[in-house]
Amino acid sequence: MIYKNKINFSVEAPRQVKKEGVVVIPFAQEKDIFSKHAFLYLPERMREFLKKTIPLVKIQKSHFFDTPDGSVMCVSMEKDITSRKWFVLIRTILQTLKTSKKSSAVIFLDDFYIADFSIFECARQIATNMVLSDFDFSREFKEIPKEGWHDIKKITLFAKDKKTQDAVKQGIIIGEETNRARYLSNLPGGEVTPATLISVAKEIAKFSKVKLIVLDEKKLKAEGAGGILGVARGSKEKPYLCALEYRSDPKLPEVHLVGKGVTFDTGGLHVKPGDSMNDMYLDMSGGASVLSAVALFARLQIPANIVALVPAVENMVSGESYRPGDILKTISGKTIEVGSPDAEGRIIVADAIDYGKKHFNPRAIIEFSTLTGAVMAALGTKASGLFTSDERLVPPLYSAAEKAGDYAWHLPLWDEYAEDIKSHVADIWNVGKSRYGGAMHGAQFLWEFAKPIPFVHFDIAPRMVTDGADGLQKGSLGYGVKLLFELFSNFGQFKKIIS
Ligand code: BES
Ligand code: MN
Ligand code: ZN
Repeated sequence: MIYKNKINFSVEAPRQVKKEGVVVIPFAQEKDIFSKHAFLYLPERMREFLKKTIPLVKIQKSHFFDTPDGSVMCVSMEKDITSRKWFVLIRTILQTLKTSKKSSAVIFLDDFYIADFSIFECARQIATNMVLSDFDFSREFKEIPKEGWHDIKKITLFAKDKKTQDAVKQGIIIGEETNRARYLSNLPGGEVTPATLISVAKEIAKFSKVKLIVLDEKKLKAEGAGGILGVARGSKEKPYLCALEYRSDPKLPEVHLVGKGVTFDTGGLHVKPGDSMNDMYLDMSGGASVLSAVALFARLQIPANIVALVPAVENMVSGESYRPGDILKTISGKTIEVGSPDAEGRIIVADAIDYGKKHFNPRAIIEFSTLTGAVMAALGTKASGLFTSDERLVPPLYSAAEKAGDYAWHLPLWDEYAEDIKSHVADIWNVGKSRYGGAMHGAQFLWEFAKPIPFVHFDIAPRMVTDGADGLQKGSLGYGVKLLFELFSNFGQFKKIIS
């Protein structure tokens, strides 16, 4: 199950452009246009045409010029644009191109260079962000394409250095694997059940030749995974836990990537009211991202030693559902008193963390879950909550998040919060006593299981779906796939801290 990139990218040495599609020219001020590489490589007649025409039009965000010799699209790109805005710009360019009747476009890499990246990273990022922008899940189920839209079939990138070709190839794969996570997350809850999620892990294991362990209900019982089994009880869909091992460099410290795989979250017996249940088919987004990250690492042969762990369950309402007040015994032996069956993510993730600790040897655990609505109250929809047991890890994580466009913000993981999740009858309670600080309670809960392994928790609920300003199609973002790529591509600082 992969959403394949449909754009044919090619990289060529700069030369005069023939009629090979829309030439894209960015500018901060109109007069800049005439010094851009793309402009200088246009046929003379077109240059003359633009020189005459541009002063007559007031270009806003973007403007198409159709001439008998070819088409040009001028787009405004502010001076010293931030990488954040630049990502959106690249995505928007593709969307805007689709409104033209052309099916191919030409971009001069030097025109789009920004200082935050090397020229290769720029090329890679252009490819990735165009592939992300081209992703259109609505096409999967609707017969009729959006009116007035035309697919962009070919993008030619003019670049001086031939090596940018490899960067573009890499960028496409990063986009494809992020789109794999988006596609999988976007599929309805009736389609992606725990068994389906595991079948995707199998597919990834097969093509990337990585080792996969799947625990079914029977094996989960033998493991004593009372958390996963407890949450799954209300559903007719059987629970699973999978461990996907990618070890391209066994000398590197082993890192566990854990992702919440709740294929639908009704809230259990604390049934989610009204609309708040509607998006809960996306509650396996963390799991989809860590699985796709393994696929990405394998395709790009990223040096890493990782185990991706995904607990997969459906949180349903039935006569069999686990109840408030139930006490569940996890793999570690720690018991959980169920304060709310809607705080199911932390329960299954706890077992996944424990399984990893028991059977492998993690030096760090990085976990992605759509864990709380509370983190959205704190951060809105722009950044995931980032929690870590070792504050020194924040700078390398921030740097990876920023380069990936998977933004995050650091929130506290302090022992003081442990008080709030104490239980009288069990080792821990799955909700906080206080109404306030729900995001921290979730993080603290997981840390009680991850201890003493250096732990990173991303509460990705805010970034489960795109926000209008992302320049991407409505639906899943595939948060974390690119972040993990950036983290492991520049692993030095993180590695030093955990070694
Ligand atoms: N999957 C939800 C969290 C969520 C909400 C993700 C909205 C994305 C968008 C999670 O399982 C949940 O229900 N959390 C509860 C926790 C509470 C019961 C302590 C919540 O946030 O209300
Ligand atoms: Mn829930
Ligand atoms: Zn949930």
